[in-house]
Amino acid sequence: MRVLRTAAEVRAAVAGARARNARVGLVPTMGAFHDGHISLMRAARDAHDLVVVSLFVNPTQFGPAEDLAAYPRDEQRDARIAEQAGVDILFAPSVAEMYPHGFSTTIHVSGLTDVMDGAARPGHFDGVATVVAKLFAIVGPDAAYFGQKDAQQVLVVRRVARDLNLPVRVVGCPIVREPDGLAMSSRNVYLDAADRARATALHRALVAAEDVVARSSTSADVILDAARAELRAAGIQPEYLDLRSPDDLTEVDEVAPTALLAVAARVGAARLIDNTILETR
Ligand code: PAF
Repeated sequence: MRVLRTAAEVRAAVAGARARNARVGLVPTMGAFHDGHISLMRAARDAHDLVVVSLFVNPTQFGPAEDLAAYPRDEQRDARIAEQAGVDILFAPSVAEMYPHGFSTTIHVSGLTDVMDGAARPGHFDGVATVVAKLFAIVGPDAAYFGQKDAQQVLVVRRVARDLNLPVRVVGCPIVREPDGLAMSSRNVYLDAADRARATALHRALVAAEDVVARSSTSADVILDAARAELRAAGIQPEYLDLRSPDDLTEVDEVAPTALLAVAARVGAARLIDNTILETR
């Protein structure tokens, strides 16, 4: 595996592979790898000849009061994990490489980003859309892999690719969970033991909603009440708990035939998100 620092180096490496007809897969990340990231790397590895993983803690997607400084960073550990997962290129640029002096372009996706994390974290998706568009421009991948835990992010990135005619397939990969159901996240390291135990209520809330749909009701009110009760029992007040269209994130009052149930909540020092697709069939 090669560790590259500049866009020019990545372009040259990808051009060399393309000259040999290689298919190129990209996994954009902010590092602090866990099994969720590894599942994205494996999915990319299975389908492509050249796998590029970007490792960049993107400052523009953090709000002023958020955890940019505290975000876990360990490049050596991440490089070992990526190499074991069969990654060919780890692109780990500096902030100055990605945002040189005078950088003044922002990509804003309207509509999709007005709700959920877009509403809770103003400017967050502008930062995500801009850095992902830059990574697409640098790498020029055939496909890019994102975790479905960030369901809104997958939709936003897909919209950017479509609206800007970027020839990349945006693949959402299944959420990877700890044995007790907690969705894997680099931010789980912020949880102390008591909060780590409470945090499992997010998954229980989603499972309670799935049970309601399977057994009794497809109504948003009934589903959200069941999910809210699980959170309340753990002393968790959600930042949002929404039932929305999985395609465009408009609010729905019924699962017909599918709906995205998404939750965000602060648990101790961590802000956690999770979601499930509810289905009537
Ligand atoms: O999901 C993430 O880790 C980040 O939002 C991403 C897609 C790498 C952009 O910085």
